[in-house]
Amino acid sequence: MSLKEQINLSRLPQHVAIIMDGNGRWAQRQGEQRIFGHQHGVRAVRDTTEAAAELGIKFLTLYAFSTENWNRPKAEVDALMELLIQTILAETATLNKNNIRLLAIGDLESLPGNCHQQLREAMAATASNTRMSLVLALSYSAKWELLDAVQRISQDVKKGTLDASAINEEVFSNYLTTVGIPDPELLIRTSGEHRISNFLLWQIAYSELYFTDKLWPEFTKEDFYTALIDYQQRERRFGLVSEQLK
Ligand code: FPP
Repeated sequence: MSLKEQINLSRLPQHVAIIMDGNGRWAQRQGEQRIFGHQHGVRAVRDTTEAAAELGIKFLTLYAFSTENWNRPKAEVDALMELLIQTILAETATLNKNNIRLLAIGDLESLPGNCHQQLREAMAATASNTRMSLVLALSYSAKWELLDAVQRISQDVKKGTLDASAINEEVFSNYLTTVGIPDPELLIRTSGEHRISNFLLWQIAYSELYFTDKLWPEFTKEDFYTALIDYQQRERRFGLVSEQLK
């Protein structure tokens, strides 16, 4: 039986989030510049998106650029922004053909104007697609997101449009950049690093974590299926005991 056939389609996560890591190391191993790794990472983005949509996963979130990534050498940041623009431009038609909606989370205002513009256009062009949402985390960090939420909540309390005693998990979630997106049941990180790196800290409170040594440019559909099979073998207890789940 193929890996794909081993996946139980009735127990799929509705949201998978991925920390795509290892592009730089992959490039350096080939004796190439880091951007070569990012360019090859686009192949893995395309294949993983296709695999997720084919299976029927509803949300796929990819950590494409963190708040901290702004501190990389300017040449790498500029090349990554250009790659993003070119990839979004090149893939919008394919997203539409496959009924996939493009969303973005993060401090989008901080992106270069042309990148933000390209992103807005692609999101508008795919807004009515319903098969799957592909969520790009861009200029994103969980601490930025949490502080931004607290600031906006404080402003609303001060204005009198929000009662401080009414702030619960649901109200708080509505102030996050992920508003309307269910929490991921599964978080995958490539490249052998076992860290969360400031990604979706609120939303992954109960996510299953899956780590693989594969570097992102090497990540294939088969690797994605392997992560899903591993996820499906786990028991998600949410603080309960096994017997309560039966
Ligand atoms: C992490 O590898 C990867 C990134 C910071 C960028 C990911 C971007 C892409 C795959 C290209 C475009 C993506 C989309 C969604 C269009 P790293 O550079 O941190 O690798 P290292 O840990 O080996 O240095």
